[in-house]
Amino acid sequence: MRIGVLTGGGDCPGLNAVIRGIVRKGVQTHDYEFVGFRDGWRGPLENQTMQLDVPAVRGILPRGGTILGSSRTNPLKVDGGVRRVKENLAKHEVDALIAIGGEDTLGVAAELSREGVRVVGVPKTIDNDLDGTDYTFGFDTAVNICTEAIDRLHTTAESHRRVLVVEVMGRHAGWIALHSGIAGGANVILIPEHPFDLDRVCDWVENRFKINYAPIVVVAEGALPAVGELVTKDDSLDAFGHVRLSGVGEWLAGEIQARTGKEARTTVLGHIQRGGTPTAFDRWLATRFGLHAVDAVRDGDFGTMVALRGTEIVRAPLSDATARIKTVDPSLYAEFDVFFG
Ligand code: F6P
Repeated sequence: MRIGVLTGGGDCPGLNAVIRGIVRKGVQTHDYEFVGFRDGWRGPLENQTMQLDVPAVRGILPRGGTILGSSRTNPLKVDGGVRRVKENLAKHEVDALIAIGGEDTLGVAAELSREGVRVVGVPKTIDNDLDGTDYTFGFDTAVNICTEAIDRLHTTAESHRRVLVVEVMGRHAGWIALHSGIAGGANVILIPEHPFDLDRVCDWVENRFKINYAPIVVVAEGALPAVGELVTKDDSLDAFGHVRLSGVGEWLAGEIQARTGKEARTTVLGHIQRGGTPTAFDRWLATRFGLHAVDAVRDGDFGTMVALRGTEIVRAPLSDATARIKTVDPSLYAEFDVFFG
């Protein structure tokens, strides 16, 4: 058996742990061979490969990023893309493909599966917004990075009696904002699922100053005001049709300062959230996903994605997992009302 492996979309701490789990189990238990496809779907589309064997995965467990490289290439948007992917898989005598990615990468995997490609998915995204799995790896690392940043921002906010706005990732879902905001004791948490009322945010901010305390406002990059529009970086779209986000934090600080008269500054955590070494939890989860993805290939259970449910690793149909985004339920967000303002 010869298995192709690729990592697509935004990189994520734990990708290397998945790759290592796949290769170690595949080679040592089943004598499988591997071929690494470079830079997400660009690899099978443009026939870009690299050697993927046990020596290639030595020492990569704690390393961030991905040894295979990543991109947001979408073969479904390229003329003859599906045909070219199939031809290149055949050229390398690939019997099965393991695609590690988020909604976009796995959406392509689901389509290729319908087109007869033998593919198994592994869910990846720091945003934790993939349906069908309780958690994706990378999320825990991102939350820890944001929480540490919020902890640090509290002391400088208090020293200067400023409002500090922290912008974190989260395009469609506010999981990072909510988890890190609660863990870091933020006073306002704004998420994409719940359009915010600017007057209410300003009331919360002023309330904090009244009790002699400097407020921390955590805002997900995809959060939007109840009146107004999504703030974007520019008008450009990626191959999956997504706008480039970021900017809501800066905009919000300007509005808060203008409306309350309190000095407000912004910290955009950006790609720091995705870089560097994964937490122990993410290494654990990523390793288990890798091992179970090889089992799914062995069982011929194609068109599925490995997923975490409780403490079990299960398999979910790729088409179901990519059909909708997993967002923060309003009742979960409401649980934390007591901490706002
Ligand atoms: O992978 C998803 C994500 O983390 C989003 O939250 C964010 O909008 C996006 O990546 C940004 O990624 P890039 O800068 O690579 O386009």
